[in-house]
Amino acid sequence: MKKSVILSFVLSLLLVSVKAQETDWFETAPGVWFLKVGAEQSITLLGAAGIEPDLSALAKLPDPKFPLDTNKIRAEVIDGKIYLRFPLERNEEIYGLGLNFKTHNQRGRILNLHVDHYGGKDNGRTHAPVPFYLSSRGYGVLIDAARYLTVYAGTAIRVDADDPPELLDRNTDQDWKAQPYSDAVEVLVPADGAEVYLFGGPTMLNAVQRYNLYNGGGTLPPKWGLGFTQRVPTLYSDRDILNEVAEFEEHDFPLDFIGVEPGWHSMAYPCTFEWDKSRFPDPEGFLQSLENKGIRANLWMNPYISPKGSLYEKVKPFSGTHTVWNGIVPDFTLKEPRELFRDHFMEHHIGIGVSGYKIDEVDGFDHWIWPDVASFPSGTSAEEMRQVYGLLFQKMSSDWFREENRRTYGLVRASNAGASNLPYVIYNDYYSHKDFITALINSSFIGVLWTPEVRSSGHAEDWLRRMQSVCFSPMAMLNAWADGTKPWTFPEVEAQVREVAMLRMRLLPYIYSAFAAYHFEGVPPFRAMQLEENLFAQSETEEGKLDSSENPYGSYSTKEIQYQYMMGESILVAPMFAGELSREVLLPPGKWYNFYTGQLAGEEEVITVTPGLDKIPLFVKDGAIVPMLKESRNRMPIQGETLPLEIRHYGVKSGTFRLYDDDGVSFDYEQGDYSWTRLKVTREGRSFIPDMEISNEEFFHYTRDPEWVFMTGGEK
Ligand code: GAL
Repeated sequence: MKKSVILSFVLSLLLVSVKAQETDWFETAPGVWFLKVGAEQSITLLGAAGIEPDLSALAKLPDPKFPLDTNKIRAEVIDGKIYLRFPLERNEEIYGLGLNFKTHNQRGRILNLHVDHYGGKDNGRTHAPVPFYLSSRGYGVLIDAARYLTVYAGTAIRVDADDPPELLDRNTDQDWKAQPYSDAVEVLVPADGAEVYLFGGPTMLNAVQRYNLYNGGGTLPPKWGLGFTQRVPTLYSDRDILNEVAEFEEHDFPLDFIGVEPGWHSMAYPCTFEWDKSRFPDPEGFLQSLENKGIRANLWMNPYISPKGSLYEKVKPFSGTHTVWNGIVPDFTLKEPRELFRDHFMEHHIGIGVSGYKIDEVDGFDHWIWPDVASFPSGTSAEEMRQVYGLLFQKMSSDWFREENRRTYGLVRASNAGASNLPYVIYNDYYSHKDFITALINSSFIGVLWTPEVRSSGHAEDWLRRMQSVCFSPMAMLNAWADGTKPWTFPEVEAQVREVAMLRMRLLPYIYSAFAAYHFEGVPPFRAMQLEENLFAQSETEEGKLDSSENPYGSYSTKEIQYQYMMGESILVAPMFAGELSREVLLPPGKWYNFYTGQLAGEEEVITVTPGLDKIPLFVKDGAIVPMLKESRNRMPIQGETLPLEIRHYGVKSGTFRLYDDDGVSFDYEQGDYSWTRLKVTREGRSFIPDMEISNEEFFHYTRDPEWVFMTGGEK
């Protein structure tokens, strides 16, 4: 890194006002520019996540220009704090700035980015308060500081603003607004240093791809991680769990991994990380019995160590000044507690077959997590620790599995910037179906994964609707820790719940390829409509409003597209919510087809669908190819298993699809042990000619004679 460039910004503690020149930015990776402001910080978000940029994948993206006018970017150190300012244009929208649950466009909002359990308001306190925003103009900005940042996302107006709001008289002017127009994003970093990154586009999706690739590329889950998972009641014993597995078999319901909740610990809240001998007398035998049935186990934990656990005395010297539920809080920025945890977890869990963890309680709430007056032996402040604790545990634990050349896929309740490559999905206790979908959409702007987990429901309709959504998310999970619910809890919709779970299983080749695109190209597997190219290409007016005389979507504008998202390259998912019989779906430019019937659904318009209870509305792009497993099954394929494919084609256009495969469990794909198979349908006159070209046959685990299904049939 060019030290001279960086040094020019080492301004710590002085009152200095700086206009950052383009030359002050250092292109640290293709299309990623870096600026260091003020003093070096010992902890950063990307550092805690342990990112390793994928430079060769970044180099393959289109060459972007430096996205902003550098004369309009300001970086100042005032009173030992960093003030940052980035320009905004009139019709610019900004997305991201943490995992929000109610809103997408953040322009006009003030956020205090702070790791916390989401409390019902999009105010910055959330599970992944990632200080990254994505502009509709096709670039991204990351402020890498492990601090409680305040972001004025287009709310503050300087006296010397480049594009000030119009002066209006409230007495006489009806257009007067309490919140006038602002031409900038301003950020307060309560520290004497911060690192800033600019991610070039040219499109929004390219900027997100760059962000994810800079973080090492998105995570690639093991195949089993994409199957169905059931979390069992807290006090279930090994016998109860095996009985539950038998029930899944009786009900012919898919199951790939079981989540074992707090009761496996001999004490929980704080935890011992030791098996409770009364409920689990023979952990190894228990895990073996599960494995014999092709099922893995994920263990719940929080990192606070009970005085009754063997780790307590050893880790105590490396812990913070305050306790959480009487447990000590390890300082995971230090090597010693990391090694103590590693040895214990390897010996007692991973070494005997545990496949992953659910890392709970690393987010908040304030009343029980360590306070900001706590201190830690490394000198890391309580504030910094709060912002990175979830990242540290994710990174540390994923490395344990990597040592064994096994992939893991687990759950976490706190994350932050840099997490794209970490094999964890965020969840919480908030349980609003609609807001869960908003979070799923927002996760795609900030390089994290989210599951709209299902727990319980007051009635069958809600149960089915939630099940349909979760099967179209990064983790198909039923979390029955409190209620003991099962997928068949509402017998009147058992068949429909099974059907959607089976559909998810059958979509493995498609979904796994979507995750491969996340890993190798940085494309989020579940993503916001705003990331689709040309969504509003023809309809935006100067002011960013949509002209309703020409707008194909009627009164819609981009920031209002809610509750619908893309899964993989070409499937649009539009979940239904209890009590709603119909809904609107915005179909982007090009023809779209009903996934189930292959019939034309519409083209660049807002349609209203009334799908009935049985199905979650799914739409497919014209020319899309969707590879699926030919038959339903209850487990994801095991290593080496070869399965028949059904390859669907939708619409009237020719199309291609890149089908990814590898062994599904190890990291050998990092050495090139994978295959990309080109599926192709060419339209010639009234007929479609299918073709499949397999690369690296050794790593392709499907039979060579797929069944091609032309869902839309012949001519239109
Ligand atoms: C909560 C968590 C739940 C469940 C529960 C067990 O904190 O969000 O999913 O694991 O703990 O006590």
